[in-house]
Amino acid sequence: MSTLSIKDLHVSVDTDQGAKEILRGVDLVIKEGEIHAIMGPNGSGKSTLAYSIAGHPKYHVTQGSVTLDGAEVLDMTVDERARAGLFLAMQYPVEIPGVTVTNFLRTAKTAIDGEAPAIRGWITSIRESMTNLRMEPSFAERNVNEGFSGGEKKRNEILQLELLQPRFAILDETDSGLDVDALKIVAEGVNRAKDKTALGIMLITHYTRILRYIKPDFVHVFVAGRIAEQGGPELADRLENEGYDRFLPVGASESTD
Ligand SMILES: Nc1ncnc2c1ncn2[C@@H]1O[C@H](COP(=O)(O)OP(=O)(O)OP(=O)(O)O)[C@@H](O)[C@H]1O
Ligand SMILES: [Mg+2]
Repeated sequence: MSTLSIKDLHVSVDTDQGAKEILRGVDLVIKEGEIHAIMGPNGSGKSTLAYSIAGHPKYHVTQGSVTLDGAEVLDMTVDERARAGLFLAMQYPVEIPGVTVTNFLRTAKTAIDGEAPAIRGWITSIRESMTNLRMEPSFAERNVNEGFSGGEKKRNEILQLELLQPRFAILDETDSGLDVDALKIVAEGVNRAKDKTALGIMLITHYTRILRYIKPDFVHVFVAGRIAEQGGPELADRLENEGYDRFLPVGASESTD
């Protein structure tokens, strides 16, 4: 059974005032087929956690480990992490001028599998996934995310998830900015990916509405750079009703320094 294990992870970023610690000892274990929802106030470090696992150079790991089936992810390059089966759907997907959706997917798939996908089956898979995600066929020939609306960018992330078939996916606010129908379509895409490949999922979100469609096994409350509490799906409802006040120091509204 595949396991993604985060232990005592500390991460800093460089600022004009020197290094600033954002993650302060994150512990989290995700097994294949499990869905873990991460909820927490703005600025608590959720995206930092996502980027750190994916290997973004801005984030410096100062302590701790991230292992995938025992192999140290932090020692891997960004593409080794992707080949090992890690996938990140970004909160703010980036535009890639000059690279079409089709070319991007084919290049990524080839890099991850070590060989180009057989052309006919591949084109069918792209068409099927795009139909499932209600993406117009014309998107295949557009440059990645260039001029895409917020919701279209999120669907494109899920298109990548479906086609690249990672073992673990980190979905950073994939639900934000989606209309009601798109939310369902995106959630169905995530559930399809999970059913097909026993995907393990870290689902970062502010809203319980996506958790009606993507049922979490565990909910974690992320506050000031670490997990402050964990529970089952009922914890998400409690957070929606009560907010994060009880986790924050008196007088603080966001992360503490
Ligand atoms: N270069 C930087 N300089 C100073 N602070 C930074 C820098 N990069 C990140 N931070 C801070 O790190 C903290 C964590 O940011 P992060 O994006 O991880 O939060 P988040 O939990 O994803 O928030 P949101 O819910 O708004 O997406 C924020 O307070 C942010 O301002
Ligand atoms: Mg974020």
